[in-house]
Amino acid sequence: MKPAPRQITLKVNGQVRTCTAAPDTPLAYLLRNDLGLTGTKFACGLEQCGACKVLVDGEAVPSCRLPAAEVEGCQITTIEGLADEGELHPVQQAFVDEQAAQCGFCTSGLIVAAAALLEQNPEPTAAQVKEALAVHICRCGSHSRVLRAIRRAADMMATNGDGRP
Ligand code: FES
Ligand code: FES
Repeated sequence: MKPAPRQITLKVNGQVRTCTAAPDTPLAYLLRNDLGLTGTKFACGLEQCGACKVLVDGEAVPSCRLPAAEVEGCQITTIEGLADEGELHPVQQAFVDEQAAQCGFCTSGLIVAAAALLEQNPEPTAAQVKEALAVHICRCGSHSRVLRAIRRAADMMATNGDGRP
């Protein structure tokens, strides 16, 4: 039997947000449908494409099957929360500079995953970048520009101690 709806409290992009849903409702549903954070995309729904990734306590994880109740108390950051007071995160800026998106459906997940990677490993090798993003599917074929963007972001963050362009 499906669990009854209850209040779920999430910490999203530095704010405490509440919604009412069954505790096994996937986080992506609540982010998009209840909290209006539609930057997080929903594609395969099977944790196979990376489009729905968000940061949970700094780790990039797919949100399409993650029960929202499991991340109550965690710090959740979506693509909308990466910018700092209107200033784009270096990975966001690098994606703009390299025009690393076409339709953009995969882009939020890629940016979130790249931001987590550079936080953990500021100077990844090309092989490490490819490994970190291996699950991400881009049907528009933007891969080479995505790789250039992540290289650019790493260089930007190494040059600017505050990590911002
Ligand atoms: S929609 Fe979540 S991994 Fe594809
Ligand atoms: S830019 Fe269209 S799916 Fe990646």
